[in-house]
Amino acid sequence: METRIKNKVADISYDDTKEFFRKRAGKYDPQKPYCVTMYQDNHSELVVERNRREVEILYPQLGISPQSRVLDIACGIGRWADAISEEIDRYLGVDFSEELIDIAKTRCKRPNFSFVAGNLKDIGSICNGEKYNTVFMIGILMYLNDSDICDILEGVISCCEENATVCIREPVAVEGRLTLNHFYSEELQDDYNAIYRSNGELTAIFERTFFKHGFTVKKQAYLFEEPTLNNRKETSQYYYILTRNGNV
Ligand SMILES: C[S@@+](CC[C@H](N)C(=O)[O-])C[C@H]1O[C@@H](n2cnc3c(N)ncnc32)[C@H](O)[C@@H]1O
Repeated sequence: METRIKNKVADISYDDTKEFFRKRAGKYDPQKPYCVTMYQDNHSELVVERNRREVEILYPQLGISPQSRVLDIACGIGRWADAISEEIDRYLGVDFSEELIDIAKTRCKRPNFSFVAGNLKDIGSICNGEKYNTVFMIGILMYLNDSDICDILEGVISCCEENATVCIREPVAVEGRLTLNHFYSEELQDDYNAIYRSNGELTAIFERTFFKHGFTVKKQAYLFEEPTLNNRKETSQYYYILTRNGNV
């Protein structure tokens, strides 16, 4: 079996990804909580710094206010819920790992913050008609197959208010698309599955989804300038801030 597939479209298994995150939840350590979804198991200080810089860079671009209704897609243990320092209208975190959602619920007790276990393919029914004006998709597109990523994003869009901001942060492939398929990672001590797409491929996906529904790119950039925060050779963290102004 090919475990590193270059420049070819190949599906990964959602069941394997779910099982991977079930095991990650078992490794949760409250002393270094963010390692569970940001990895770098042997470099927890790097995770602290990456989280700090990510929030410092992205948060001011999101216009968080008392009117914010936040949908955190694939929220993990609620790392981004932690980042929301001010009072907001409401927050919903969704993730298909029941184990990570249980951890999120014990960590975050804010009254208007809730967490629910569910698969993103059902995001429309999970939101149940509630709409959101601020959507986080942090580190999730790499776990979605080309065969249904657009349908899933259509579901996300159906949960957006007319005026909405979507923040996508994703590791992009810098040397061409790469799929890891049951690739054994020494760092994670487990098999790992993920699809690293190029910036151009992600933009093509947004053209078929977000842009068709009136979203435009307000900002896109590599996340970290500091070489010390980017310790991967084939991928680099990148972000997109997409906005739709329903009044225009
Ligand atoms: C790299 S982690 C990022 C977690 C969080 N956004 C953060 O930045 O800390 C990816 C998350 O996506 C979730 N996930 C992957 N595929 C999913 C799917 N199809 N439906 C719901 N959650 C999914 C995993 O359980 C995991 O919590």
